[in-house]
Amino acid sequence: MIIHNLETSNSVLNHFVAEIRDVEIQKDPMRFRRNIERIGEILSYELSKALHFTDHKTKTPLGEKRIPLISDELVLCSVLRAGLPLHQGILNYFDKIENAFISAYRHHTSPESFEIKAEYLASPSLENKILILADPMLATGSSLTTVYEILKDLGNMREIHIVAVIAASEGVKQVAKHFPDNTHLWVATVDPELNAQGYIVPGLGDAGDLSFGIKLSH
Ligand code: URA
Repeated sequence: MIIHNLETSNSVLNHFVAEIRDVEIQKDPMRFRRNIERIGEILSYELSKALHFTDHKTKTPLGEKRIPLISDELVLCSVLRAGLPLHQGILNYFDKIENAFISAYRHHTSPESFEIKAEYLASPSLENKILILADPMLATGSSLTTVYEILKDLGNMREIHIVAVIAASEGVKQVAKHFPDNTHLWVATVDPELNAQGYIVPGLGDAGDLSFGIKLSH
């Protein structure tokens, strides 16, 4: 797996990441969602540089210009529900992308152990396509690996690009072990630890709750 950790060079991205982590700014869910969306846009721009392009002739009022345009067939799959603002950010940049949605949640068997339940899936064929898999918080890596086990039956993908906002080092290692070699990880920032409940530290808390409100646990 090829890892692209965008925090290795300073950019305006740092401002959006600082805001989503900030306990005071987090009180505004609209700002939280919008910042995740903006991070999705920046990650999309960076990811686009790794795609395949072919020349297209564009006619202007004064002449013609050959412009390389993306030739890959792209499918964006987001993990519900926390992935939705990130999904929107990626959609803002890839106009023709197809869309898939999958649900994955932690079903706690005790306060400190859980299994991933994936119940809903709506996806086009993935045969010969490039899959962009969006999950804002790559914590243990278990949601992404569960999701991959389901999606791999939908066709032979040409490449996989995972888009995450915050990853834990442990989760990155798990995903690298499980996903095929032609996988890229695009991440805004990587944190060192997970707590006993599998939350990223320092992280930001629960991205789904911060975007959409606190849910009942099940
Ligand atoms: N999901 C979240 O929203 N936050 C974490 O820290 C881990 C998983």
